[in-house]
Amino acid sequence: MSRIEIMQGDITKIAVDAIVNAANETLLGGAGVDGAIQRAAGPQLLNECRGLGGCPTGDAKITQGYHLPARHVIHTVGPVWRDGKHQEHNLLQSCYRRSLEVAQANHLKTIAFPCISTGAYRFPKDQAARIAVATVSKCLKQIPEIEKVIFVCFDIKDFKLYEELLLLSEKSTVE
Ligand code: APR
Repeated sequence: MSRIEIMQGDITKIAVDAIVNAANETLLGGAGVDGAIQRAAGPQLLNECRGLGGCPTGDAKITQGYHLPARHVIHTVGPVWRDGKHQEHNLLQSCYRRSLEVAQANHLKTIAFPCISTGAYRFPKDQAARIAVATVSKCLKQIPEIEKVIFVCFDIKDFKLYEELLLLSEKSTVE
């Protein structure tokens, strides 16, 4: 039974232990999925974020989920895409790894990710999807306590990218 799932939809509607937010280093909200999560969670989320003192790119911090169906939000800050020669790949990998480490440290079992950095931060979608699937697959081998990771793709393009990658990775593990 695979511990990785994909779905197309709105991450603010998903009832898991934690949804991951694609935030910025201030953690004080924004547009995109960050704006959607802040709106759905209600004003207490921003209040808690204010006390966190920001978050460096590639790292992750946890808050309560408040009015979200998810119990927690893990805020991570993806890299802004420049040219692929400024550690963008390593920093995006770090977002997925640190988010899973924070989930493990808080004894969470189910976590949902958006497509970090692929909106306003302009990370190429295909490269970001490959990094997401490869990093999560690798980390899950080291963190057996996490039972389920769901990639929540807002648009069909991302969904199809992840679907293809997961089919390939399942095929390779079977062969
Ligand atoms: N549910 C799931 N995914 C969503 C949702 C949603 N409700 N809304 C947007 N997305 C998807 C976008 O389609 C994109 O694939 O989230 C992905 C990430 O896009 P952004 O939200 O723009 O995040 P990012 O590219 O990491 O840029 C972060 O944008 O909103 C600001 O404060 C944020 O400065 C930060 C920057």
